[in-house]
Amino acid sequence: MQHKSWIVIIGTICATLAQVCLTLDSPSGDDKIVSLPGQPHVSFQQYAGYVTIDEKQQRALFYYFVEAETEPASKPLVLWLNGGPGCSSVGTGAFSEHGPLRPSGDILVRNYYSWNKEANVLYLESPAGVGFSYSANKSFYNSVNDELTAQDNLVFLQRWFTKFPEYKSRDFFITGESYAGHYVPQLAHLILQSNLKFNLKGIAIGNPLLEFNTDFNSGAEFLWSHGVISDSAYEGLTSICTFSQLRRQIANSGSLTPVCSKVISQVSREFGSFINLYDVTLDVCLPSQVVNLLQDTQKIDVCVEDETMKYLNRKDVQQDLHARLVGLTRWTACSDIVKYEMQNLEVPTIHVLGALVKSGIRVLVYSGDQDAVIPLTGTRKLVNGLAKELGLDTVVPYRAWFEGRQVAGWTQVYGDMLSFATIRGASHKAPFSQPKRSLLLLTSFLAGEPLPEALS
Ligand SMILES: *[C@@H]1O[C@H](CO)[C@@H](O)[C@H](O)[C@H]1NC(C)=O
Repeated sequence: MQHKSWIVIIGTICATLAQVCLTLDSPSGDDKIVSLPGQPHVSFQQYAGYVTIDEKQQRALFYYFVEAETEPASKPLVLWLNGGPGCSSVGTGAFSEHGPLRPSGDILVRNYYSWNKEANVLYLESPAGVGFSYSANKSFYNSVNDELTAQDNLVFLQRWFTKFPEYKSRDFFITGESYAGHYVPQLAHLILQSNLKFNLKGIAIGNPLLEFNTDFNSGAEFLWSHGVISDSAYEGLTSICTFSQLRRQIANSGSLTPVCSKVISQVSREFGSFINLYDVTLDVCLPSQVVNLLQDTQKIDVCVEDETMKYLNRKDVQQDLHARLVGLTRWTACSDIVKYEMQNLEVPTIHVLGALVKSGIRVLVYSGDQDAVIPLTGTRKLVNGLAKELGLDTVVPYRAWFEGRQVAGWTQVYGDMLSFATIRGASHKAPFSQPKRSLLLLTSFLAGEPLPEALS
């Protein structure tokens, strides 16, 4: 209680001397979450709050940290980053993919395949302007790029480790998906270049953007082979206007040439609005579905992102999470205010993976195999090409891996440091659509073990 009144006093000082207050990040105890609204009883600790990145500019990043369900002191630390660029790791990664709790109506339900079964998991909303992270100087949002993001993330880690010193020498892994194919290797590389002695052991990235042309253009064959588009639309996407050309034109000028416009209108007419390109086999969220799914929490809730949106916008939830909306009226899964330098999308990061492997950092690249946006085919080709370039021998030839008696995907391992794996039946956000297989993949990766073979 005494402790509490001390917080109140500090709170008052903060209100009057905001700038001074921001220089003093609160100790981890202040970030401890007592309980979130509608939360079932859990045995592990949760923390959430801010780490100041720049005192003068009042730029701060928001995190949510869940300790491991059992024996947190002997389990590794895993940082998770969602992509976008500009999407929230708390709303997406934690509450819709692999966190321990997920919104369902007014309450939170347990995710039995939460990654905190195996690790202490840190979800970071980055860069500033994403989720609850903010910059009081709004000009920051006008030109955010990969370099700034990696730098801020590095400062975040340095300062977060001062809040949580017991984690500083812990085995550390950086993970993420999609555009985190930039964020994750770039941050890992920056850590190696700096003199910071974090105990970085490896990175894992899912359906990552590694090379603009290869990644996006592999979508054409993927859609065609899944029967989503016709022969003639496929022809258009391969010989008239490719996905990478389409994206480049929109990023550069906001409009399309007449030829490209014709191709994309045929393609979108064929796949229609009732399919999600991030998973060509999964159902999409329809308004009438929300209620039905509440009765069966073991099923994949295809509407979980809508539920998260409602949950994180509740005032009581924000209060218990120690979150604030600065310069915003509501929390969104992907930022409306960050203007990311779209040219950065074309910067290849596949060679950064090579540099990490050479420095002894383990790299796992995995693909949810139902994703048509960054399909496994492009990713597999890129990883295979990198292995050749680095002269890495195949130590585990391409084979199926198993969860129980079923095939959970396929995998190949190169020179012990670089591996590729698919997750069968998984979307772009693999842990959301295949939670059990994704958790097993994480478990093997953290242990540095090959993925399970068939039970004999
Ligand atoms: C706000 O940020 C911009 C860009 O980051 C910077 O140029 C400007 O000096 C900042 N304004 C103030 C008042 O610090």
